[in-house]
Amino acid sequence: MAIVCRSVADLRRVQSDLRATGKTSALVPTMGALHAGHLALVAHAATLADCVVATIFVNPAQFAPNEDLDRYPRQEAEDLEALEAAGVAAVFVPDADEMYGPEDATRLVMEGPALGLEADFRPHFFNGVATVVSRLLLAAMCDVAVFGEKDYQQLLVIKRMVADLKIPVVIHGSPTIREDDGVALSSRNAYLSDEERIRAPELNRALQACRSALHAGVKEDEALIQATERIEAAGFRVDYVAARDADTLGPVTDLANARLLAAAWLGTTRLIDNIGC
Ligand code: PAJ
Repeated sequence: MAIVCRSVADLRRVQSDLRATGKTSALVPTMGALHAGHLALVAHAATLADCVVATIFVNPAQFAPNEDLDRYPRQEAEDLEALEAAGVAAVFVPDADEMYGPEDATRLVMEGPALGLEADFRPHFFNGVATVVSRLLLAAMCDVAVFGEKDYQQLLVIKRMVADLKIPVVIHGSPTIREDDGVALSSRNAYLSDEERIRAPELNRALQACRSALHAGVKEDEALIQATERIEAAGFRVDYVAARDADTLGPVTDLANARLLAAAWLGTTRLIDNIGC
């Protein structure tokens, strides 16, 4: 049976019991509404340590007032069942007061990989993510933690934050899990109408076509314009389509180490995707 912890104190007890029996652990932070992408992280985590600890917390600090905090899907019982079936040892399910008490006055401010791309459209986002992930990592004190490449900039921001704060945990990235038509699994896909869902694969197809164009020698600017036009033609409103160095998110210097990243709106739903070159 997975142990459900609602307080940091309970989670710390679980961790000290694991340590006492010589067990290593891997953390998988989530905001719940779990799908096969999250469960793939759990499976990956299980290959990295003796036990997996998952967290479910819809973090208010990473949502702007006009964003979907209130309508973000919440399904705790179902999520706990899925995590139990996936064999996790413990699940941390704090409420907002446990993560941010009434006197709370500490926020991380991220630069480096947190600048540009997502931050141009969601300026609050990475500070909120870094703040909560630092707290989750310090609460759980697992040996490793696993994050999805689906949120590629987030993964680099978390690696930077952990290195800078010298938190004793190793961060692993895990590949994006997709539907058969290439759409990256996301809790927000549930917002798409049937008609939008039919158009959604064009985001990934445009990135793949962009990668082929770059390898065929098309100039970066031109390839990105073509990708943007293709995504717009499918009815999206594009926030960005970019080619960046896969390690720094700076300009591409070597196509073999480039990442193509995009964010675009279908109606009121914002989708993000990225692929390696
Ligand atoms: P959430 O969107 O719930 O995602 C939790 C983890 O699952 C993240 O590491 C994300 O990259 C990964 N993930 C989501 N969809 C995936 C997919 N299709 N394939 C592989 N991995 C996928 O990301 C967050 O929550 C939050 O920002 C969090 C890190 C928990 C901090 O609040």
